[in-house]
Amino acid sequence: MTKPSYKRILIKLSGEALAGKQGTGIHTATIKQIASDVAAAHHEGVQIGVVIGGGNIFRGVAASTEGMDRASSDYMGMLATCINALALQDALEKEGIPTRVQTAIEMNEIAEPFIRRKAIRHLEKNRVVIFAGGTGNPYFTTDTAAALRAAEINADIIMKATKVDGIYDKDPAKHNDAKMYKEITYIEVLNKGLKVMDSTAVSLCMDNKLPILTFNLFTSGNILKAVKGELIGTIVRN
Ligand code: GTP
Repeated sequence: MTKPSYKRILIKLSGEALAGKQGTGIHTATIKQIASDVAAAHHEGVQIGVVIGGGNIFRGVAASTEGMDRASSDYMGMLATCINALALQDALEKEGIPTRVQTAIEMNEIAEPFIRRKAIRHLEKNRVVIFAGGTGNPYFTTDTAAALRAAEINADIIMKATKVDGIYDKDPAKHNDAKMYKEITYIEVLNKGLKVMDSTAVSLCMDNKLPILTFNLFTSGNILKAVKGELIGTIVRN
């Protein structure tokens, strides 16, 4: 059996991923599949933190472009990530995986508050820690929350599981000749304006030498392959 390539990882899941084909909300079969893929990676003995988005329920940025106050809409988005975190916790526990949810905004009746040292302790005890509520601040994306939490827990890598296979030189949905990078540097991502993560998140990863692996979440078994160090998707590093 191949050993996992990493000791500790941070998986970033987009909220939209949970919606499956229905487009919004939480699609039960989809979240079950995601939980089973995360569980398979967990069985390899790798410590797993998860940051989850909220776009399947509410997209803060989109609402603010339609006139809503940006801070208010971002707070609504942060609450949406908490709903997703609880759904993922439930799905993972049904797979027999011990989990803890920690929120960046205190809601003690629902989950633990984010306490860095406690999160690390949970990881050491092989609990999957789901970080909800983004960074707790408006104007920051959940990608930035993923970069921040990954740095805080000393993760070896961020695994950004998305709807596409990796990072392309142009939008593959619009251009037939779009080419996927196997590897690319942070600076290239920033200079070319490639939409892998927002620039705050990419800069944070660059400054902390945190590699970002992006790959398709919907190719079953991809999380496990990524954990085993298989070269799937695109890796961003120096
Ligand atoms: P250890 O200290 O390693 O035993 O960790 P633990 O998480 O099992 O211990 P703790 O007693 O802190 O937590 C027991 C349970 O209560 C876990 O499911 C936690 O997620 C939960 N829990 C802890 N703190 C809070 C909180 O502030 N709010 C809520 N809602 N649950 C909490």
